Amino acid sequence: MTGRFISFEGGEGAGKTTQIKRLAERLRGEGQDVVLTREPGGTPGAEAIRELLVTGETGRWNGRTEALLMNAARADHVARLILPALGEGKWVLCDRFGHSTLAYQGVARGMDLEELLALHNIATEGLWPAKTLLFDLPVRAGLARAGVRGGTEARFEGEALAFHEKVRAGFLALAKQDKCMTVIDAERDADAVAAHVWRVIEPMLRPLP
Ligand SMILES: Nc1ncnc2c1ncn2[C@@H]1O[C@H](COP(=O)(O)OP(=O)(O)O)[C@@H](O)[C@H]1O
Ligand SMILES: [Mg+2]
Repeated sequence: MTGRFISFEGGEGAGKTTQIKRLAERLRGEGQDVVLTREPGGTPGAEAIRELLVTGETGRWNGRTEALLMNAARADHVARLILPALGEGKWVLCDRFGHSTLAYQGVARGMDLEELLALHNIATEGLWPAKTLLFDLPVRAGLARAGVRGGTEARFEGEALAFHEKVRAGFLALAKQDKCMTVIDAERDADAVAAHVWRVIEPMLRPLP
């Protein structure tokens, strides 16, 4: 039952958090029941793990530890929040999900993608979103925006430019192979981006089969 599970993906400063709030508002305006959540985090237990992941020294964890922590948080989030909400017919909008693990810990930190997929399946019993929106823009532009905003994911934002380039390329490579992913040009102004998001999501308002 993933019909209304939508994830927002992309690098730092791409506009994920801005756009997820706008979509939630728009859907609520259509009378829809919307749960807005994020990863890592989303439940008290997963938010506690998030603190370990997003704060401290950039080199605090290696890719393997990071992937395990991400998936430990995800297991709690999926079991206690996402699946129950989907079961009640709600829309679940999630700021980052499994594709971030594949791009960051996989492509950028060098973990094997097949291993990460197996880990994801252990954590989630195979749950993937019905639709993933990938917000794409040049790395420097995203980091400049994130710098203005102030970091909530400072441990990742502090990585070198080359790391963020790998993340971007990783996301785009995933999108090429995954028909559930839609690439959104995130360099445009927020209204233009929101309009594109709505064109993609509006057809999902139809009742589920
Ligand atoms: N389309 C846009 N054009 C210019 N600035 C934007 C746009 N979307 C978001 N921003 C600003 O850029 C910063 C990062 O946006 P945010 O939504 O927090 O990105 P993310 O969650 O992907 O890191 C914020 O200060 C936000 O107000
Ligand atoms: Mg954000």
